[in-house]
Amino acid sequence: MFNKIIIANWKMNPDNREEAEKLASLSDREGVVICPPFVFMETVLKAVKKGKVGAQNCFCEEKGAFTGEVSPLALKNMGCEYVITGHSERRNILQETSENVNRKAKKTMNLGLKTVVCVGEKKECKCDERDYENAEYIKKQLQESLLETSPENLIIAYEPVSAIGSGCPIPTYIAKDRMNFIKKVLIDIYQIKVDDEEDIASVDINIPILYGGSVNKDNASSYLYDAGFDGLLVGGASLNGEHFQKICEKIKK
Ligand code: 13P
Repeated sequence: MFNKIIIANWKMNPDNREEAEKLASLSDREGVVICPPFVFMETVLKAVKKGKVGAQNCFCEEKGAFTGEVSPLALKNMGCEYVITGHSERRNILQETSENVNRKAKKTMNLGLKTVVCVGEKKECKCDERDYENAEYIKKQLQESLLETSPENLIIAYEPVSAIGSGCPIPTYIAKDRMNFIKKVLIDIYQIKVDDEEDIASVDINIPILYGGSVNKDNASSYLYDAGFDGLLVGGASLNGEHFQKICEKIKK
């Protein structure tokens, strides 16, 4: 069992150092990981005293002639402890493939960075049914992104694309169903020994699974406690310090 974690993905916000510093201070608490844009990494590392800091992406090599890329080793040496890989915005807008995600995840997990691998159905799927095809899509993302990895330092974020930034989070019971599906896929990938008789929802596979997609102060508890996710990956609502504090209060329970 893990303590619940809440990861703030600021995406490409804010647009100046002062705001980044203020937001980091307001969001800083135990159990929280702040993932700012790279330009504010140092500012946020200085401001954060109780929480942790993560990157939204990195390259799959430690150093060399890779213009414009960011080294995972440099991030680690700066004090960054988490990295997000394969966010759907990178997969869909920047054409990142599961093969790219796999190369990055192998590198970051080996370096000891906690690596958040994001998966989720395509935008067309409104997640109003538990359909086989979309579950298979997630299974493929997991199998390809986690090829030849070990589960140490791995965190999975389940983010259905239709829920991201849309203000339309998916119903808790469907999210829970997907979480259990992801658990089964991970059990298969890593050959984790579980009692066949065990109810999948109560099996502890020692890999945190987070929910992301239109999380706000009013629905955070239902994903954490009704669905039973190990944490949340929060986008838009992490950009408002007071609102984000209210989400973070949910992990005190
Ligand atoms: P929103 O919380 O804005 O829907 O974004 C979710 C997300 O993409 C976090 O990585």
